Amino acid sequence: MPAANFARLDQRVAIVTGGASGIGRAIVDALADAGAKLAIVDLREVPSSELPADSISLIADVSDVTSVENAYDAALDHFGRLDIVVNNAGVLDKTAVTKITPEDFHRVLSINVGGVVWGTQAAATRLGAGGCVINMASIAARVALPMDSLYAASKAAVVAFTENAAIELADSGIRINAVCPGFIDTPMNQEAADGGEEDIAKTATPLRRLGQPTEVAALVRFLASDDAAFITGAAYDVDGGTSRGISLGAIEAMT
Ligand SMILES: NC(=O)c1ccc[n+]([C@@H]2O[C@H](COP(=O)([O-])OP(=O)(O)OC[C@H]3O[C@@H](n4cnc5c(N)ncnc54)[C@H](O)[C@@H]3O)[C@@H](O)[C@H]2O)c1
Repeated sequence: MPAANFARLDQRVAIVTGGASGIGRAIVDALADAGAKLAIVDLREVPSSELPADSISLIADVSDVTSVENAYDAALDHFGRLDIVVNNAGVLDKTAVTKITPEDFHRVLSINVGGVVWGTQAAATRLGAGGCVINMASIAARVALPMDSLYAASKAAVVAFTENAAIELADSGIRINAVCPGFIDTPMNQEAADGGEEDIAKTATPLRRLGQPTEVAALVRFLASDDAAFITGAAYDVDGGTSRGISLGAIEAMT
């Protein structure tokens, strides 16, 4: 379907955390393509040569509430309004249950859950009616995978937080939804791919390939638009069917 058939985001201002890489970068490009102005919030600065038109790069740590508030205020000062917040920044963790340290626990929960909590809180006090928040969860919230317990716990928390926050923010006319990607071809997954896990990920995906960041971004763009005006408190999978089970082709490939 041509992109012109979708509701555009002209005049809207969006914050995308973790927008310097992977899925976040694809979301930045998709929202910019739909007409939005962007504030990219990340630990890393995005060089001006790589910024979409009318966009700014802000350095912040999403696990730090003061850092988040300062970045949101800087975006609001620069653009004069905020309409869309995508809390996408996150870190992967592949630690066995018996090896998880307090440092692992604090790092994963403070970034993956804290980033969503502080980002949603900052959005709730700065977005007007008609605004929306999209939180990046994962299929790890839905299916059990080896060495995924801490990461899965963080992403299940993102889904539960989003579902509950939706009820509260509805009174302010703010929508909030979550997105649960499956195995997506990004730098986050590169380390696992180098360890030979890419083939496992493809086998575990009924559509038998990794997803592309642009395919997650397309869902985010839809949820951010007026086409999704009646959707709040939902969590959508974009995972090639991984969370639904294993295909016959995958079983044959394994036997
Ligand atoms: N890649 C996948 O297969 C996959 C699957 C499901 C969910 N996700 C989720 O999608 C999101 C993006 O993942 P990705 O694959 O694009 O990862 P990525 O590593 O390519 O990008 C993550 C970005 O987040 C930024 N970031 C990390 N910690 C931060 C912090 N404390 N403050 C600010 N920015 C920070 C990084 O600098 C980086 O630019 C994450 O929440 C991840 O858990 C990814």
